[in-house]
Amino acid sequence: MNAMVLEATSLDKSYGRIGVLRDVSLTIGAGESHVVIGPNGAGKTTLFKVLTGELYADRGAVHFQGRDVTRVPAHKRVHLGFGRTFQVAKVFSKLSVQDNLLIALEARVRRQNPLARVPRAVAAGFAVAIDQLLADTGFAAQRDAISGTLAYGDRKRLELAMVLALEPAVLFLDEPTAGMSAAERHATVELLKAVKRKRSLSMLMTEHDMDVVFGLADRISVLHYGQLIASGTPAEIRANDKVKEVYLGDEEDAHA
Ligand SMILES: Nc1ncnc2c1ncn2[C@@H]1O[C@H](COP(=O)(O)OP(=O)(O)O)[C@@H](O)[C@H]1O
Ligand SMILES: [Mg+2]
Repeated sequence: MNAMVLEATSLDKSYGRIGVLRDVSLTIGAGESHVVIGPNGAGKTTLFKVLTGELYADRGAVHFQGRDVTRVPAHKRVHLGFGRTFQVAKVFSKLSVQDNLLIALEARVRRQNPLARVPRAVAAGFAVAIDQLLADTGFAAQRDAISGTLAYGDRKRLELAMVLALEPAVLFLDEPTAGMSAAERHATVELLKAVKRKRSLSMLMTEHDMDVVFGLADRISVLHYGQLIASGTPAEIRANDKVKEVYLGDEEDAHA
């Protein structure tokens, strides 16, 4: 059974009088990578923010694991299991890679009470968890590297590792490969694929780069002027005439 982790129903969102989302409904299934694509200005980031709670919709509802979170603010959604890169305190640039991961692991334990001491038995488990994270995210050889000296793509990867340390039920990524070199983009796709396989993580991602999209997506939804015009498997989306017309047929523009 493919239970739904997240279910958004009939979302509308305007900035002032400008309607940006119109009647958008989508779901994220357990273990599913759902990628939202669309031209610049289509409303992807706005949809992302409504799903993560940074913005509230004017109309419609968001349910997470069966619970209505429509009016639950972003930081509380994190406690429920929403993972997003910019939610974690930024990478601490003077600390090593493994110390950053340690901080993220401690943050998970302190979710309910920020002042709580981490029980010794729990702290003992961190060493194993850190080794696992370092291996999963390709940082084993850089565990002692000072984070501030990492290349841009590696720093983004460390941010991702810190979010994974929080063991989210669903991972949200808004254009995770923006600003990356082709090699960094490729490494990020491979990492996300590996993480998804190993941790059977559910993901919602917006993305510009079609190689990334088709390399990762189980399902793709296409947003066009605030409306979802198609949702389906990568093969279905490639074959969809409407999508070809407004978007994929004009990939040069989409990359601009
Ligand atoms: N805070 C804001 N106030 C007013 N208009 C906004 C704001 N944020 C985004 N917009 C507008 O909403 C539309 C959708 O933006 P956005 O969600 O960022 O699209 P995308 O991520 O697909 O490029 C754009 O026309 C943008 O100019
Ligand atoms: Mg955007």
